[in-house]
Amino acid sequence: MSYLEIRHLQTHFTKHAGSLFAPRMEIIRAVDDVTLTIEKGEILGLVGESGCGKSTLSRTIMQLIPATSGEVVLAGESLTHLSHREIRMRRLDFQMIFQDPYASLNPRMTIFSTLEEAMRQRHPGIPKDEIYGKIIALMETVGLDPAVMKKYPHEFSGGQRQRIAIARALAPEPKLIIADEPVSALDVSIQSQILNLLRKLRDDFQLTMIFISHDLGVVRYIADHIAVMYQGKIVEYNEAEHLFQHPQHEYTQRLLHSIPKLPASA
Ligand SMILES: Nc1ncnc2c1ncn2[C@@H]1O[C@H](COP(=O)(O)OP(=O)(O)O)[C@@H](O)[C@H]1O
Ligand SMILES: [Mg+2]
Repeated sequence: MSYLEIRHLQTHFTKHAGSLFAPRMEIIRAVDDVTLTIEKGEILGLVGESGCGKSTLSRTIMQLIPATSGEVVLAGESLTHLSHREIRMRRLDFQMIFQDPYASLNPRMTIFSTLEEAMRQRHPGIPKDEIYGKIIALMETVGLDPAVMKKYPHEFSGGQRQRIAIARALAPEPKLIIADEPVSALDVSIQSQILNLLRKLRDDFQLTMIFISHDLGVVRYIADHIAVMYQGKIVEYNEAEHLFQHPQHEYTQRLLHSIPKLPASA
């Protein structure tokens, strides 16, 4: 059995369509029968154009949206049939990193308080001096100078803010990190720094990660396997380099032709 197993997952939304006099409900199959497996310590790249269902798939895996059908199994435990209370506890095991770290950080909290709060979710009773040491270590892990721990999010650049968001995601010691377009809003030169950091974290901590992007070039750089999503379905899945050398699906070939280049220093 794989570390994370996604089995025939479906997430459908209903939408009002038609006219006032002839109303009807339309079903949006945002996630349409997705089956995927991820091994421990692996980075799965999930790629596809905007609106193909990537964020919905990740939210369904994290049990933030109920699955219409199908199952998500993490480390042998089915998440799809847990009670609300159990899901709340399990949610610490999943952490997300988003495109816009500024929107996901509390502007009124210092970096220290942000990280303290995230750490205490897992270990509520840690004494203050121990937390202090852990926060210093965590900031160093993500390449931030611990001297800035009393600063606020607005005092940082976009790339530094993404490092803070990554530190906050790591703080509750998650089993799985889902990074949803984490470098899409960053300058290209900063993108490669953040990608390098994520890769290093995976190597150092055996992190399991789903890395989402609409940009196949970025995904190639970081992922071990790549799943290509199109209209709610996984249309192609392969080892990353193999997918690049031998794209099977016509849609993958189209994505390959629209790749911007990362700088040579990447
Ligand atoms: N809460 C929702 N209610 C209705 N439709 C939604 C909802 N969330 C997403 N969708 C629709 O599901 C599809 C997939 O969206 P999304 O998962 O955000 O795609 P992506 O992350 O790949 O851009 C889109 O058609 C979107 O409009
Ligand atoms: Mg999205």
